Amino acid sequence: MKKTPKEHWSGKTGFMLAAIGSAIGLGNIWRFPYIVGESGGGAFLIPYIICVLFFAIPVMLMEIAVGRRFKTSPLSSLGSISRKSRLLGIVAVITCVGILSYYLVVMGWTLSYFAMSVFSFADFSEFASGWGSVAGFIISLGLTAYLVSIGVKEGIEKVCRILMPILGVIMIFLAFQSLSMPGASDGIEFYLSPDISKLASPDTWIMAMGQAFFSLSAGTAILLTYGSYLGRKQNIVSSVAGIAVADTLIAFVAGIIVFPVVFSFGTDPASGVKLAFVTLPQIFSAMPMGSIFGAFFFAALSIAALTSAISMLEVPVSTSEGIFKVGRKKAVAISSGLIFLLGLPSALSYSSLKLSLFGMPVLDAMDIFFNSRMIPLSAIALCIGIAWLWNPEKLLREINRNSGIKPGRTAVFLMRFVIPAGLVVLLLSSAIV
Ligand code: PHE
Repeated sequence: MKKTPKEHWSGKTGFMLAAIGSAIGLGNIWRFPYIVGESGGGAFLIPYIICVLFFAIPVMLMEIAVGRRFKTSPLSSLGSISRKSRLLGIVAVITCVGILSYYLVVMGWTLSYFAMSVFSFADFSEFASGWGSVAGFIISLGLTAYLVSIGVKEGIEKVCRILMPILGVIMIFLAFQSLSMPGASDGIEFYLSPDISKLASPDTWIMAMGQAFFSLSAGTAILLTYGSYLGRKQNIVSSVAGIAVADTLIAFVAGIIVFPVVFSFGTDPASGVKLAFVTLPQIFSAMPMGSIFGAFFFAALSIAALTSAISMLEVPVSTSEGIFKVGRKKAVAISSGLIFLLGLPSALSYSSLKLSLFGMPVLDAMDIFFNSRMIPLSAIALCIGIAWLWNPEKLLREINRNSGIKPGRTAVFLMRFVIPAGLVVLLLSSAIV
């Protein structure tokens, strides 16, 4: 068997930008602000930061450590720990493929709305009911597949190096614009005025936990895959801290953009599809200089979606390279073919065919299933596959290599008991609704 040389990031910054690109996605821009507004305003930051620190971050550390230690595809890396770990890792790969299949449909909408912002926004249901969704899905898949096929350093890293700073600048520009709108302070008040009583409700904590994992792309083998391209000299602990800070900052700024705009027009704050493709476009059409604001907003959303989609595709690509012993281009073709088939029903669910599952559009059903069931399940599988089945001394040694701050046995305790228990609660609570 011919062994191809393993690819590498150019250094710590390259790795961090790619991981930040994965973390910052639709979840930051259209979900985080809404959850904050609904779940206690500024006070929500407390449970959110606790969940990031004690739940998501240890999982991220664990994933990167395994990736870097074994430096091969995610399933082979886990397979180097034990056969059981390898089997458990399959859940994570399925989760990435599943999320990506419908994430690309939404990314197609963001790209279309970016293009439309120059002319005028179409009515969402009219736009989606035509072939718009399917065309957008195919374009998004093609673009993501092309960039991933170029390679780790020249493709993924380069895209993130160029796009992440641009995203940061656009977000800051939009935040200043938004704050200067009449009535902006009402929006900020809704967004941030702390309601401590909400902290007593378990729902707030469950929301915080789900959002922390989704937003940081934790527990889905993405960081395990990205970690496999990381050099031995790099500091894992400080990288993860940087990724978490950047992700949280952008999510926070997204709220500063969204709420002043929504409140100054007296509309209802909403989340998800409704916010991005219905509420905001209506406002952009009515506000002065709205087309410029809209163009920048959808550019930001498209960048955020693209760099997350790239990270999700890299997981099945690296996995197929390992399983089928093929090169990157073939692995991309195999993975994209599978994702195309899986994503087509989601793309068609908003078209005039109206494909539905459990009484809702397939896309919504996929989102609920993967987001609230598969992510926690996959994170639990990784906690068992790594923290239980690997030697804790080896795990800690890899995490702490070249790090000033050295997580100790408490971190292993979190990974073995506390985090899986929290995730089980998340899973059970989502089974009830
Ligand atoms: N973190 C991305 C976001 O916030 C979504 C994502 C989830 C990406 C899981 C990869 C894996 O939108």
